Amino acid sequence: MTTTFLYKSDPVRGRQWAEVFRQHAPEIDFRIWPDVGDPQRVRFLAAWEPPADLATQFPQLEVLFSSGAGVDQFDFAALPPALPVVRMVEPGIVRGMVEYVTQAVLSLHRDIPAYRRQQQTGEWRPLPVRPAAERRVGVLGLGSLGQAVLAQLLDFGFDCAGWSRSQHVVEGVQCFAGQEALPAFLARTDILICLLPLTDATRRMLNATLFAHLPQGAMLVHVGRGPQLVSDDLLAALDSGQLSEAMLDVTDPEPLPAGHALWKHPRIHITPHIASMTQPLSAAAVVIDNLRRFNAGEPMIGLVDRTRGY
Ligand code: GLV
Repeated sequence: MTTTFLYKSDPVRGRQWAEVFRQHAPEIDFRIWPDVGDPQRVRFLAAWEPPADLATQFPQLEVLFSSGAGVDQFDFAALPPALPVVRMVEPGIVRGMVEYVTQAVLSLHRDIPAYRRQQQTGEWRPLPVRPAAERRVGVLGLGSLGQAVLAQLLDFGFDCAGWSRSQHVVEGVQCFAGQEALPAFLARTDILICLLPLTDATRRMLNATLFAHLPQGAMLVHVGRGPQLVSDDLLAALDSGQLSEAMLDVTDPEPLPAGHALWKHPRIHITPHIASMTQPLSAAAVVIDNLRRFNAGEPMIGLVDRTRGY
């Protein structure tokens, strides 16, 4: 019986996935939602938001792929308990994130937000230029995105550290692990980058207590998930000078409603969740490779550990 791979996400990008499947996995019947064909044949699903009652709709479903890097949009309790879930780990997303975080760090490092404010009042006032080696950058989250970002920042000569739940070893990067090491990591961080997945442990983690551990005047680049940040605590930290700038690519809610206090703060710089996006051609190639791994009984890249939540 032919295997159906069902895609339920942005249909324009879906047509690019279809082309990659046609060329590299022609034996698979690739379909774009809502054109599901025979539901009994659907063994694989790639979705941002999966349809309700998956188990009844697609009784033969064997793997659920997230069409994005995160899986926090899935309601795990509603998914069949044994269904493997796979995050999107593909070179296009990694590249986009490296670009975004690099521009954010360079812009903060070189005082671009301050010059924007000076321009508004026609003020010509050069600020001291610090060498990158004297700027301590810290990345929360040492997964594939965090590590790629750090490799690029190391190239610019920044003093780099990373923090994660479990111990990692990254060349050239001072690695901190676990809750008890968080204060020491924060105390040496001038520019903090959040690249953590959203889990119960990271929800509201960017709060007043965490900000208080940073050196005074530290800066934040938030490219994780909106609910990780306590907005009122950020506003207070910026007003008190504990933090000096924040670049936010994610907010809670999204879109951020017009008139929200985050929009108006002169030291907050917002982009609409565009730091990185799945690139259809490289994503489809990675998924086809994962299907090969799955069929060969090998571990799939990005397989989610449901107990961890990422
Ligand atoms: C975007 O945030 C993604 O998860 O791909």
